This record gives sequence, structure tokens and C-alpha cells, in this order.
Amino acid sequence: MRRLLMLFILGSGCGDSLPERPEKETGLGLEEPMVVEGAPLLPTMGGALHPSLTLYSGDTAALLNPNVCASCHEDVVATWSRSAHARASFDNPWYRAVVDAFREERGFEESRFCSGCHDPALVSTGGADQAISPQDPRAHAGITCLVCHSTVRTTADGNGSMVVDIRDPLLPDPANPSQVAAHRERMRPEPLETPELCGSCHRSFMGQSIGVPHHVGGVDDIGAWRTSVYAGSHGRRIDEPVEEATCSGCHMPPVDATRGDVAATDGQILAHSVRGAHTPIENAEETRSMLTRAATIDVPRARTAEGWEPIETFAERRTVRGDLAFDVVIRNVGVGHRFPGGTRDLQDTWIELTIRDAGGRVVAEAGTNHATDDDPSAFVLRATVLDSEGRPERRHRVHRFHAPVFDRSIPPRDALAARYEVTLEGPARGPFQIEARLRHRRHSRDFQAFVCEAHRTPRGRAFDRASRELGREPVDPCSPEPITEIAEWIVGTSERTTWRRLHDLALGLSHSVQERLDEARPVLRDGRSAAETPFQRAMLDLIEGRIAARQGRLDEALHFADAAERGAPDHAAAIARVRGEAYAQVWQWESAAEAFAEVAEGAPRDAASWRDLARARGSTGDDEGAFRASLRGLTLRPRDADLLRSQHLALDRLDAGTPEVREAFLMHRTVDEGPTLLRRCQRSVEGCDRDRQPVPTIQMRTR
Ligand code: HEC
Ligand code: HEC
Ligand code: HEC
Ligand code: HEC
Ligand code: HEC
Repeated sequence: MRRLLMLFILGSGCGDSLPERPEKETGLGLEEPMVVEGAPLLPTMGGALHPSLTLYSGDTAALLNPNVCASCHEDVVATWSRSAHARASFDNPWYRAVVDAFREERGFEESRFCSGCHDPALVSTGGADQAISPQDPRAHAGITCLVCHSTVRTTADGNGSMVVDIRDPLLPDPANPSQVAAHRERMRPEPLETPELCGSCHRSFMGQSIGVPHHVGGVDDIGAWRTSVYAGSHGRRIDEPVEEATCSGCHMPPVDATRGDVAATDGQILAHSVRGAHTPIENAEETRSMLTRAATIDVPRARTAEGWEPIETFAERRTVRGDLAFDVVIRNVGVGHRFPGGTRDLQDTWIELTIRDAGGRVVAEAGTNHATDDDPSAFVLRATVLDSEGRPERRHRVHRFHAPVFDRSIPPRDALAARYEVTLEGPARGPFQIEARLRHRRHSRDFQAFVCEAHRTPRGRAFDRASRELGREPVDPCSPEPITEIAEWIVGTSERTTWRRLHDLALGLSHSVQERLDEARPVLRDGRSAAETPFQRAMLDLIEGRIAARQGRLDEALHFADAAERGAPDHAAAIARVRGEAYAQVWQWESAAEAFAEVAEGAPRDAASWRDLARARGSTGDDEGAFRASLRGLTLRPRDADLLRSQHLALDRLDAGTPEVREAFLMHRTVDEGPTLLRRCQRSVEGCDRDRQPVPTIQMRTR
């Protein structure tokens, strides 16, 4: 305890305001990343709770007790107690199974890393450094009220990069206006209304401090959000108008207050249930509706020996035989970050596709056994991180993470295309009934089995008993998890226009590997003929411009960018990005830098804007400009390998390099063994070779 306080005093003074000092001076570096003229920006390392970056001061014992607030904020407390935040600690069996294993392998002190985000009440009082007894209420506390409502400063680092100053809550006499005002002021520190509050815990990274030899990025909802139109970043694509929204805007909507909460406005309070995807904690309508607004699924076309045709044409065929293919498209339409988000390695959201003949018999299918069995034809939207042997780490033992090799979750408003293939031995008779589904279960069967086993132990039972004694019904990780139908598509019932279907397909195909990029072009051509407005055409033009840029065809890319500009003149940043990429691809750096400057203006929260600008400026010899751009980017992504590299190169050439700047770059570089480990995975793990493709090809089963 004394150590904590000491460090806090060093870092921030003990009053209520934190002095503005550049991080160098304190060595703690949790202050706002201050851009000091000429000084580089280095990733911060945290303080007393290292490897967690959180700093606490004040009466941390007060974190334990949400009942303090319940007498006046009963509705907020009621919604919070059903949230994943209330279940973030050791009473959460999924977390406990993994963190216990971590503590066994890496020791208690390193587990502060986990507890910084999952167990504030425990870590802030030294509890994470000891064995944890099931009866310890701190191990059941979760993210309590005073964590968020006492966070007085955050940085973009992640791993709990926040300063939590737990002063007197100044509980008011509700009839006394000045007391109420003081209480409100106390409870609304500046970061509360910012997504950066959420981002401190919703961005994580692994490194030497937990035994991973180099930097590996983890959860990053905040980073993905910043790149998106929801955050006002318009550099990624021309999109239809989308309302801006913060984390709390989507996850804490106003709900009816039925218990007389004093903070209700017009009878409503902001829901603290932060519904996302955790159906096993509560399979509530609210959770399911978050999931069903997330994404769409579509099967726009099929291929026979005669080539591609609209799926409806295929469905009406009398007979088919031989080689068939179907394109399935998932679009992230409602998620302000990648979908699925959060711990992307742990996700179990998969695609099912079924083709039935005229008699209703299944001709071909894929993914349909995944709910209950191992099904190699199931495609799962998730990220794959390999361990040092090239095996996918699927139990979230993050200290074994070595090389993040591919991520098949979908960025905000982006699309994923997957090709399904089958060879029919005999003829099949139509008309055909074709269905596709996107289904969600919070954890995979394998992960559940692992957690269930850990739960059916004396320790697991002791936690359940203690939960009940603390007045909370435990969750059971052994019962089968709910499965949510996120989206469904049935041939002939789709109300989507031809243009939209082709647009989403082209968007998905535009992520393909170089050799297959041209496959998107006929789709774009058909899409243009189906477009009803110049804006819709412009959306397609820009996709084609990006493809041309990736292929190094400068003139063609510029032609499409110009065309897009005519149809969508208000989308300068996205259009400039295609121009910048096209120039960069052929090493015309002056023009690229000019274009990327325009991107950064239209998407200033998107770190990639600054990364591209820094690189282009560096390549023209504008080292000061490159340095300035890298600083802007590093305030958003302090551990971005490319930005750290640009910073290092620029300072070196300006004769201002330091060993720390070089070291920061070297520490965060992409791991060299990545490609070797990926090859090993491709050779020896089923599905690895397939899923590494941005547009995977999936073999269907016949019956
Ligand atoms: C004795 C009653 C009481 C208790 C206990 C209490 N509050 Fe309050 N709180 C109030 C009143 C009254 C208001 C002002 C409501 C209004 O008029 O908007 C308020 C307002 C707030 C607000 C600002 C709401 C806004 O206007 O946006 C927050 C946040 C808050 N309280 C958090 C807490 C937390 C966290 C706790 C527990 C540590 C707590 N309160 C305990 C009475 C209380
Ligand atoms: C435009 C609305 C929107 C915004 C903005 C948004 N989210 Fe979400 N979020 C969703 C939806 C819808 C889901 C459910 C689908 C899913 O699981 O991805 C979700 C899911 C999640 C999940 C659970 C992920 C999983 O699958 O396990 C987390 C964690 C999360 N959001 C955190 C955040 C944070 C942190 C921010 C701000 C940086 C944020 N969200 C911003 C809509 C949003
Ligand atoms: C994960 C962070 C987090 C936690 C944990 C949290 N809050 Fe909040 N709280 C917020 C945010 C964000 C807001 C909305 C701020 C804004 O935009 O006005 C808020 C708003 C409030 C409000 C005002 C509600 C309204 O409708 O205006 C009250 C009261 C409140 N919180 C009380 C609590 C209490 C009591 C708890 C514990 C049961 C709690 N909070 C836990 C983040 C949190
Ligand atoms: C102190 C760290 C911390 C802060 C601050 C924080 N979160 Fe979380 N959040 C977590 C942890 C840990 C979990 C995972 C809990 C679990 O399932 O074990 C989580 C889970 C979630 C989920 C997933 C819920 C689900 O049903 O899948 C959402 C959504 C979410 N948080 C939103 C937010 C938002 C919005 C904010 C800011 C207002 C925020 N969080 C701030 C730590 C934090
Ligand atoms: C930077 C903050 C942060 C750190 C550090 C962190 N987590 Fe998490 N963890 C989260 C968030 C946020 C989620 C919820 C994501 C979602 O809903 O998909 C989560 C979810 C989980 C889950 C899934 C829980 C569930 O209810 O399904 C497990 C298991 C987990 N974390 C284990 C760990 C372990 C073990 C460590 C340490 C080795 C750790 N985490 C470190 C933020 C963190």
C-alpha cells in the first residue's frame, strides 16, 4: 500500500489536480502524451502495478462496495450488476480458469497484468500478489462504480493506462443543491465522457513483462473504433451516411428507470449493463439485439460450368452437376469496431451454408455440424495467434502468444467474402433451396470444455458457494452456451438491392491476395450497371481505384479516384487515400505525401493516416515532417511498429536519435519468425492454410 501511494505522489502530487509534466521527468509516463518540441514519444511502462499500467491513489478499499451507491442509484446499480463488468473477476469461471493457469505458469506478480483490467479492487490493494481465496470479496468485485467514476486521466497505451484517484464520494443530501453539485462534479471526472476511458482497458498488448519475447497486440476495440466513421474518420472508404457514436453511445443506451434512481432524466438512466456479446452471463433480449444488429449475410452468386450467375438464377436450374461454387458475404453493418470484437482469439461466430434439392434433400452443406461437433467445413470469424511452435493458441493463454498471423474478424463497415466449393458426383435436381446463417456462441466448445473442467473442482465449487454468500447467483460454464442467430439469408427472400449485394461482394473480394484481386473487377462492372445514383457508382469506383493502386497501376487508380470524386465530392479523405496508396506503390513520394496529408486531415483519429504520412514524408527526405506525423500517430497508437520506425529513422537522420528511440522501435517490430511459424501451422494444422487467406475457399460436404 505504502509503495502505491509513494509512486502516486511522485507521479501526480497528492492534490486533486495532476501537474502537467512531460513523461521523462517522472518516469511514470501516465500523463497525457505531451508533445514536447523535438522530444520523441516513447511507450510508457507503468508504475507500482507493472505490468498493469494503472495508477491508484486514495482509499482503494472503497472500490469494493457498490452498495454505497445503491441507496440513491438503484437503477444504475441494478443494470450494472447484470453486466460483464460486474462479472469480470475471479467469480467469472472463464476468466478464472485462464488467469489461474497464468498465475501458475508465470507467478502472481505478473498476473497484475490481468487484474489491472479484470480485478481493480484486488490489484489496487495488493491482492493479486498473493494466493486468492474464493471467500475474498475483492475476487468477486468486478469493475466497480468508483473505477470509472474516479478515473482522472487516461493515455492511449492500453493495459489499464489510467490514473484512478479515489477521493471521498461526497455523498449528498439530495435536498441540498450545493452538496449535490459537489457530488456530481466529483463523480464526473473529465475522462468519463470519453471513449478513452473505455480504451484504457479495451486495448491490450503482451510483451516481455509477461514472458512474451516481443510486442504482440491484443484486444483493441478503441483502435478499431478510431479508424471508423463512428469516430468521424472518413479515410477508409466512401460509405453511406453513418451516425457517429462512442462506446457508451452504443453500449450504454438510456433505459427506463423503474426503481426511482435520483439521476434519472425523463424517467431514464444510462444502462450500465454494457451489453455486447456475452450471452452466457445473461442471455437477454438486449444482448441478442446487439448481436443481430451487428452484421448481414448474403449469397449473391453461384458458379457452374457456365460461369458465375445470380444465385436466384442458379436456384431455378433444373439440374446441376460437377463443380459448383457459391460466394458468401458478411458485412459488419452495426459494430463500432471489429466484428466480432473484444478477445478476437476466443470468438466462436461461424457460417453455415446449405443447398437442398427439389425434394428437400441436402445436396451440399458446410458448417452445419459446428454447433455440436468438430466440423472442418465451418468457417469461424476470429483471429489466430500462434505460439512459439506454430500452433494456434485457442485457450487465451496470452503469455504463450508469439505471432499474430491472421485476423478474420471484420473491421467496422467492412466486408468478408468466403468462397464455398463442392463437386457433385451425380446430377442434382432443382429448383434449389439455399440458406446461409451467421451464428454466434460466446465461447468455442473446446474452450468451454477446458473451463468446465477447471470449474468442477473444489476451488470452482468454493467460488460458487462464496458467490451465493455474497448474494449473487453464480454462472455455470458447464451448461451448453446459447447460440444466437446473428443473421440469416434464404434464397428468394432477400430484400437487398442488386447494387448493394454486388457492392458488399466487391468490398469483400477487394481484400484478396494480389493474384486474385482481378476477381473483383467483373463484380464492380455489374455493380456499376445496377447503381441507381452517382454516389453508389462512386462507392464502387473507389473500391476499383484501391484495387488498381494495390496492383501498382497508377494511371488507372487515379482515373477511378477522379471518377469517385465526381460522384462523391464530400469524401475527400477516402479518395485521397487511394491516390496516396497509388503513388506510394510506385514510389512517387512527393505526391503520396501530399495525398496522405489530406487523408490525415479527414481522418485525424485514424493512426494509419499518420503512419502513411510519416512514411511518405520520410521517403521524400522531409525528416522533420515525418517526425511530426509520427508523433501525431504515436499519441493514438503508442506501440505502432511502423510509427516507431518512422520516428526512429527521422530522428536518426536529424542527428537526434537516442538509444531509447531505437530500442522502442526494435522492441515493437513485427516478429521475424512470423512467416516460419505460419508455414508450420499451414503444414500441420487443419484449416490454417485455408483461413490465412483473406478470401478463404471452403470445401462443402455432400451427403
Ligand atoms: C445519498 C444519495 C446518493 C448516493 C449514496 C450517491 N449519489 Fe450519486 N447522485 C445523487 C444525486 C442527488 C445526484 C444528482 C442527480 C441529478 O439531479 O441529476 C447524483 C448524481 C450522480 C452522478 C451524476 C449524474 C449526472 O448528472 O450525470 C453520478 C455519476 C453519480 N451520482 C455517481 C454516484 C456513485 C458512483 C455513487 C456511489 C459511490 C453515488 N453516486 C452515490 C445522490 C447520491
Ligand atoms: C456503433 C455501435 C458501437 C460502438 C460505437 C461500439 N460498439 Fe462495441 N459492440 C457493438 C455491437 C453491435 C456489438 C455486438 C457484436 C460483437 O460482438 O462484435 C459490440 C460488442 C462489443 C464487445 C464484445 C465483443 C465480443 O464479441 O465479445 C466489446 C468488448 C465492445 N463492444 C466494446 C466496445 C468499446 C470499448 C467501444 C468503444 C471503443 C465500442 N464497443 C464501441 C456496437 C458498438
Ligand atoms: C465502465 C465504466 C463505468 C462503471 C463501472 C460505472 N459507470 Fe456510471 N457512468 C459511466 C459513464 C461512461 C457514464 C455516462 C457519462 C456521460 O456520457 O454522461 C456514467 C453515468 C452514470 C450516472 C449518470 C446516469 C445518467 O443517466 O445520466 C450515474 C448515476 C452513474 N454512472 C452511477 C454509477 C454507479 C452507481 C455505478 C456502479 C454500480 C457505475 N456508475 C459504474 C461509466 C461507468
Ligand atoms: C477497468 C477496466 C475497464 C474499463 C475502464 C472498461 N471496461 Fe469494459 N470490460 C472490461 C473487462 C475486463 C471486460 C470483460 C469481462 C469478462 O467477461 O470477463 C469488459 C467487457 C466489456 C464489454 C463486453 C460485454 C459483453 O456482453 O460482451 C463491453 C461491451 C464493454 N466492456 C464496454 C465498455 C465500455 C463502453 C466502457 C467505457 C464506458 C468500458 N467497457 C470500460 C474492462 C473494462
Ligand atoms: C487491457 C485490459 C485487459 C487485460 C490486461 C487482460 N484482459 Fe482479459 N479481457 C479484457 C476485456 C476488455 C475482455 C472482454 C472482451 C470481450 O468481451 O470480447 C476480456 C476478456 C477475457 C476473457 C473472456 C472472459 C469471458 O467472460 O468470456 C478471459 C478468459 C480473459 N479476458 C482472460 C485474461 C487473462 C488471463 C489476462 C492476463 C493474462 C487478461 N485477460 C488480461 C481486458 C483485459
